[in-house]
Amino acid sequence: MSEVYNERIDKIVSAMGLMSRKDCARAARNGRITLNGSVIKAVDKKITQNDVLCLDGEEIVYAKHMYILINKPQGYVCAAEDGRYPTVFELLPKNYLNLGLFTVGRLDMNTTGVLIITNDGELSHKLLLPKNKVVKTYRAVTKFPVSKEDIAKAARGMQLDEGDTSLPAEITAVDEHTYDIKVCEGKFHLIKRIFLVLHNQVRELERTDFAGIGCTDLEIGEWRFLEECEINVLKGAVTR
Ligand code: URA
Repeated sequence: MSEVYNERIDKIVSAMGLMSRKDCARAARNGRITLNGSVIKAVDKKITQNDVLCLDGEEIVYAKHMYILINKPQGYVCAAEDGRYPTVFELLPKNYLNLGLFTVGRLDMNTTGVLIITNDGELSHKLLLPKNKVVKTYRAVTKFPVSKEDIAKAARGMQLDEGDTSLPAEITAVDEHTYDIKVCEGKFHLIKRIFLVLHNQVRELERTDFAGIGCTDLEIGEWRFLEECEINVLKGAVTR
């Protein structure tokens, strides 16, 4: 929220998903917009974070980038559009759909839990860069118990299918069929593939943590904006 900006009023209002630029101009003509306490009629004026912009008396807190946390439910895909299944973007207000938002990586359709959505391409890119080794934790319910030998194998890194390998992964038992698994890479179906190599099968999968961000305060399917301190945690995860 503290990023410096110098943007047109109508751009800010539309970028926050409040209304189109045209509707913003109309709202201003109707006296619904104030700038630093005075009604304004023109919406092409550029303002900065020091200005107080209000629509219908409510302050518009503008952030150049949006950072959203969703507790992803099963049955939703991480794609902008899908002909068959609902997308995670359908969990957000409709007027957020044209804000250039995307998911930071993907979760499988049946995986639940921490999913970050943003329009900050640079941060997203860094969070996904293999060299940054951003840590993610998953809770997996498995078909069979996992042995100590299997935990040791995963900890060494393993040969996966099709010549691919996994980096060391830390598995901790919660109970006989539930395991927390910490990984620092984002390969396609990684957790399911690791358990498959261990002759096991993942029955349920939830991401409980992404780079230090959890979503225990959200019901499944709920979303909220990330707090400034959480955005800083994400930024910190890629600048070490
Ligand atoms: N690994 C998987 O197998 N699925 C996910 O959704 C994420 C990681």
